[in-house]
Amino acid sequence: MNMDRQKVSFIRMDEGSAADYALLESLEKGHVAGLADRLLFALKGLQNSFDGYRIDRLQHSLQSATRAEADGADIEMIVGALVHDLGDDLAPHNHSQLAASIIRPYVRAEVTWVIEHHGIFQLYYFGASEGVNKNERDRFAGHKWFASCDRFCGLWDQMSFDPDYPTKPLSHFEPMLREVFSRQPFDPAIIGESEQALDG
Ligand SMILES: [Fe+2]
Ligand SMILES: [Fe+2]
Repeated sequence: MNMDRQKVSFIRMDEGSAADYALLESLEKGHVAGLADRLLFALKGLQNSFDGYRIDRLQHSLQSATRAEADGADIEMIVGALVHDLGDDLAPHNHSQLAASIIRPYVRAEVTWVIEHHGIFQLYYFGASEGVNKNERDRFAGHKWFASCDRFCGLWDQMSFDPDYPTKPLSHFEPMLREVFSRQPFDPAIIGESEQALDG
């Protein structure tokens, strides 16, 4: 039986049968299994993202991940560094949140928080040059992951625009990315929303 050629019977969700949804569930497993491949494809696409820096956005991502690994960061934070700017193309005004949403189901909450807030923390390094408040991050002063995000931005992200740094290739990080994104996914936000809906 070729599952790829099968289609559901319905044209409205509420008219689908159990067999329809069993089919979709079986196809979804294959789709989810391809996530790492699609992320690698998207990372390669960053070579053609917005221009002007001395290295492209893929090299910036690889350099951030290389520095994270060299500083002893664990696999979740290294992969976080690798994907942290994946939103540059599709969400240029909130790219941090897009990348955080992608990685959220697969890593501890600290890593998601760091990725989600790196755009605000990053202002510390160029905000003054752009005429915006460089200390916007101060609204998170005292937060339990402030230092972690400060480290991510200060030592890895904002440092990673150097064409001469010995940046490791995407092939080096591919096994790490595959390991993280093949984990059993869990999204506390969705669970939380479901519980709220039930409560409401
Ligand atoms: Fe960024
Ligand atoms: Fe970045």
